[in-house]
Amino acid sequence: MSIRTFMCLRKYSSETKTSKFFTTPIYYVNANPHIGHLYSSIIADAAQRWQRLYQKGADVKFSTGTDEHGSKIQRAANKNDTSPLEYCNRISSQFQRLANEFDVDYTDFIRTTCNEHKKTVELFWKAIENRGHFYLSGYEGWYSVQDETFLSNSQLKQKQENDGTESYISAESGHPVEWTTEQNYMFKLSNFRNDLEYWINRNEKVIRPKKFQRILLDLLNQEDGLHDLSVSRPTSRVQWGIPVPGDPSQTVYVWLDALVNYLTVSGYGRDETTFQKYWPPEVHVIGKDILKFHGIYWPAFLMAANLEPPKSLFCHSHWTVDSEKMSKSKGNVVCPFERATTYTTDGLRYFLLREGVAHSDGNYSDTKILRILNSELADTLGNLLNRCCSPTLNPRQTFPAIESSAFDNVSSLEVTKKLIESVTQLPEICRIHYDDLNFYKVADAVMETLHAANLFFESLKPWVLAKSPETQKDLDVVLHVTLETLRATGILLQPLVPNISKNLLDKINVEEGRRYFTDLGSFSWTRNDFIGIPLREQRDVLFRRILLEDETKKAKKL
Ligand code: ME8
Ligand code: MG
Repeated sequence: MSIRTFMCLRKYSSETKTSKFFTTPIYYVNANPHIGHLYSSIIADAAQRWQRLYQKGADVKFSTGTDEHGSKIQRAANKNDTSPLEYCNRISSQFQRLANEFDVDYTDFIRTTCNEHKKTVELFWKAIENRGHFYLSGYEGWYSVQDETFLSNSQLKQKQENDGTESYISAESGHPVEWTTEQNYMFKLSNFRNDLEYWINRNEKVIRPKKFQRILLDLLNQEDGLHDLSVSRPTSRVQWGIPVPGDPSQTVYVWLDALVNYLTVSGYGRDETTFQKYWPPEVHVIGKDILKFHGIYWPAFLMAANLEPPKSLFCHSHWTVDSEKMSKSKGNVVCPFERATTYTTDGLRYFLLREGVAHSDGNYSDTKILRILNSELADTLGNLLNRCCSPTLNPRQTFPAIESSAFDNVSSLEVTKKLIESVTQLPEICRIHYDDLNFYKVADAVMETLHAANLFFESLKPWVLAKSPETQKDLDVVLHVTLETLRATGILLQPLVPNISKNLLDKINVEEGRRYFTDLGSFSWTRNDFIGIPLREQRDVLFRRILLEDETKKAKKL
């Protein structure tokens, strides 16, 4: 460990902090939002909601926003015949709408064109400059206009043109490169190699999943080493950007500009109290395409400014559509707004978080989403509540009080024992998976418990118990135990499907202040305290079954 790392990481005693800062990437305004963007945002949202669920009164900052500078945006605006700012306003508002409609519960929406951000970039630039980590240099190399980045030889691939000539393209993106010479400010990235390695290996949570930690370490250890990084562009080429402090002939490299959004939001250089409270970020949620920027450049910039790097990066893989990459040219970009009209916003959230695994690409398909939502949200969860609230089984409309002796009677059955065991263990299982941001495992565990509850319900045949006054007490036990199970699953599902959970918890009359993880510290059967409460009147359909097209036709004919 170098001296610098040691001092840098010791300076802030972040381990004891109770305030936490979560972020999404800030999205380029060169295209409208698609499900990939939504996916990053809901991962971060579920993470921060989990924090607030786990720790009542948790002090959480959660930022998202849009990345609005650079020649890509300049070009997109030109193409659309508008000024860059008007263009940015238009697309940025689509990302705001995305967050709002899908209940991405941010505290801050940052746009890199706002004044506070420009000032923060200037301050941060000067902090790095004053510490001697920039130098001016004539720079030449292979440059990709589309990717806005210089590439080293090992990042290139040769391409045979139709006319037989050969040219170079980026091996990663496939975009053409051209040999470019210019004056640039350079960042001494190579000086930070050992510090980066130390940070990446600091603990197993810094880079998750592990696969991405290895990718970063491989980048540090590649043969031609870490190159210094060009952090400015000639204004002649990129006008739509933040001028380099003290040198208006250059604009700040769009990636440096974009990364600083996290500092702007945290009050860096502007609001010391806020900054001390939230820095460093708890977790940056990112896609694998931007791992290098967040896992190499960003921590190096921060260390260069003597600031602590983030506590962790959570990197997810990509969504493909019917096994192909989503792209405008293929016309297979999945629009979240459009799909939500069929699946609802919670339905789409549930599918993405349930089917997505961070370490490998996921495949979006309408057949799969329909099957999962119908079977899990409509049948397994929704229908169970519905049955508990039906006038025939539950004419008094209560979460019924029961007697210990009646409970003992029913709980001696094997199906009941299985269910009780499953519900009792569920909170701890979910806690572990939430802490790892493995949302699919949370959903899986919740569904397993709900399956046990459905089996219990079916086996005890409450519709038979309802027929005779002698079995009323047993019927009440069935309803009580099932509703207690629904209370647990409703509380635990809040970070994934906030609306469905709210409707469920409202219906069974769980007070707002009792919807926290600690409220699952005990169940009525562990307390031996089986009180009842009235159900609320609102509708009890949590998720309406989605009909397949031919079913819709049939239904219309009937
Ligand atoms: O890269 N599957 O913005 P961007 C899953 N402005 N996630 C996907 C995806 C897919 N097919 N496509 C995109 C930028 N994403 C920069 C970020 S941060 C300081 C600056 C998600 O609009 C994923 O999170 O291109 C990816 O990292 C992000 O969208 C890129 O969004
Ligand atoms: Mg991108």
